[in-house]
Amino acid sequence: MRLTIGVDIGGTKVAAGVVDPDGRILEKVKYPTPSISSDAIADVVCDAIEELLAHYPQGQIEGVGVGMAGFVDETRSTVVFAPNLAWRGEPLRERIQRRVDLPIVIENDANAAAWGEARFGAGRGVGHVVCVTLGTGIGGGVIIDHQLFRGRYGIGAEIGHYRIVADGRRCGCGNRGCWEQYASGRALVAEAQDLAKTAPLRAERLLKSAEGDPERIQGQAITEAALAGDPAALECFRVVGDWVGQGLADMAAILDPERFVIGGGVSDAGDILIGPVRESFARHVTGRVVRTLADIRVAELGSEAGIAGAGDLVRL
Ligand code: BGC
Ligand code: NA
Ligand code: ZN
Repeated sequence: MRLTIGVDIGGTKVAAGVVDPDGRILEKVKYPTPSISSDAIADVVCDAIEELLAHYPQGQIEGVGVGMAGFVDETRSTVVFAPNLAWRGEPLRERIQRRVDLPIVIENDANAAAWGEARFGAGRGVGHVVCVTLGTGIGGGVIIDHQLFRGRYGIGAEIGHYRIVADGRRCGCGNRGCWEQYASGRALVAEAQDLAKTAPLRAERLLKSAEGDPERIQGQAITEAALAGDPAALECFRVVGDWVGQGLADMAAILDPERFVIGGGVSDAGDILIGPVRESFARHVTGRVVRTLADIRVAELGSEAGIAGAGDLVRL
């Protein structure tokens, strides 16, 4: 296949692009994500695909890959479960296929982003890579020997639901203590809100960004404050970075990757996040005095990783 379409279904927008074999995005469209109903989302995905198809001579675009935030079955068709959307058993491929007459695959969003980074971004040329997407939840993509690891039923690498704290905070998946309750974008916001409630003086700048209401502090404002050197925001990143590093340490014990690639909105803070992550990783990983430490890098493709990855995965 020469040209394909990659689609990334996010919480706020559906982004789709035409992808060439080198992972370049030739053209891109964006639509707001309508609601959490899978019918409505499938319609928007089809609108985006049709808009792109109309710009190319028929036959030039040969397949469609769609990244979706949930557990996708091994036939790459059905969203078995989406912890942060309350979806269950949604036949997303079938719904899109009604309007789009091309080969279509549904992929887990983080697998798609990981594949994009591994092929064309911060994991390029490295055989053993674990990509961690820090967004609303935590997504994972595991590349072993240059291959995407899916598990027996398609839903491997759900690293966000690794139970890092026994009987800890409640998670959308129904369990408690999942890593994404401690180290995601949502966890960063929760940390800042908690700090603003308990220590309003120290959190002055964060509160200002939210008209004085702790509940209205948002992720991007925390990143901006941290980049400007605000001590309270920096502390939030240290707390979350520490949890990220602890999770990476446990993953290294199991998978022994050469590189971790950290993406998602929280990684926009760059070294402010990665510094504490590296420190925590080096402090917790087993065999730290004897092993070669995996290197930890920020993702390179930003929000385009999912599009490039999904567009490439339909070729395989
Ligand atoms: C979901 C994953 C998804 C991740 C990031 C997690 O809560 O279980 O399937 O990849 O969030 O969107
Ligand atoms: Na995944
Ligand atoms: Zn969970």
